[in-house]
Amino acid sequence: MKALILTGGQGLRLRPFTCQTPKPLLPVANLPFLAHQFALLRRHGIREAVVATAYRSEAFPRTFGDGRRFGLRIRYACEKSPLGTGGAVRNSAAALDPAEAFLVLNGDVLHDLDLTALLRAHRAKRAEASIALVRVKDPTLYGLVETAKDGRILRFIEKPSLDEISCRTVNAGAYVFEPSVVGRIPPGKPYSLERGLFPSLLEAGRPFYGCVTGGYWMDIGTVEKYLQVHLDILCEAGAGAALFRKARLRRRGAFLWEAKARLAADAAHEGDGHVLVGAGASVAPLVRFSGSVCIGPGCVVERGAWLSDCVILGRSRIGRGARLSGCVVGHACVVEPNASIGPGRALGDGSVVKQYSQL
Ligand code: GDD
Ligand code: MG
Repeated sequence: MKALILTGGQGLRLRPFTCQTPKPLLPVANLPFLAHQFALLRRHGIREAVVATAYRSEAFPRTFGDGRRFGLRIRYACEKSPLGTGGAVRNSAAALDPAEAFLVLNGDVLHDLDLTALLRAHRAKRAEASIALVRVKDPTLYGLVETAKDGRILRFIEKPSLDEISCRTVNAGAYVFEPSVVGRIPPGKPYSLERGLFPSLLEAGRPFYGCVTGGYWMDIGTVEKYLQVHLDILCEAGAGAALFRKARLRRRGAFLWEAKARLAADAAHEGDGHVLVGAGASVAPLVRFSGSVCIGPGCVVERGAWLSDCVILGRSRIGRGARLSGCVVGHACVVEPNASIGPGRALGDGSVVKQYSQL
């Protein structure tokens, strides 16, 4: 079975980080985000993926090549201009098997949904299309999916208004489609799965099912969620556990470090969570950590800095005595000595924060 991964969104809500890097390639725990999805596919026995690109397409093959390093065979289907989630599926048809059902994943959700159970349910119901469902507090941000007791989908409302909320189950961004679904999508023009295909399947009375499989699930669409995904992973919750089992990391108490990272022997940690120090990064003496902290490859953290529940992307420098809490620092930033950056702050790549500044 092949998996098609949709990666063409512009990630506007995750600016400034998506100005330079497409969302599916942003590092999550120091790996390009899609690498986590590739690992999930492999855990479910899927060895072939088609990556449907539209925004900064050239960056994807540059990062993943033919996929061998990630244990998959990867092909790319590039849209000249974005065709929407449905148009992307149609545009990828040549790379899919015309006689076999396929899996589709939104390329911006970190999850460990049980794809095998989704596929099993799809086959048992003889469905034409199946959607993995998750329960959330606020369905207005997602595609609301109302099902009958047997899982048959009764209504699909993308980004419902408050008065349209009839349940808490939403589209998790993982589907199984029979090949016939591709023929229902108009070729060569923008088309949405959520606003076009799904309502049309319902109208035509086709066998269209939803399946709640459980597991960790987080859309990385905003800065707040991007940070939260890191905290979850570093707490070894949900999807994070797999990362720690597989990766070759050295470990001492709450500290995990990658190849050629240097961590002073007196580094102190308090609270829950872990500190991940990326390849070639260095942490000077007298640095204190609290909660979960992700330090990207090649970063330098100078003496006496205090880092709490934050993410620092690659090649940034955190000066002496600087204090970071609840924030995300982009690539190649400089936080000068004694500056403090507080909760919710997001520093775009290359930012410089002058000494003693308070953000
Ligand atoms: N190739 C391609 N071309 N991919 C696209 C395009 C396009 O034109 N537009 C969007 N995508 C990709 C995005 O990169 C993302 O991985 C996925 O399709 C979904 O698009 P988003 O823009 O992230 O949609 P959303 O988060 O508002 O809502 C979607 O995801 C929710 C779950 O996170 C919908 O599918 C909702 O129904 C769902 O609940
Ligand atoms: Mg999204």
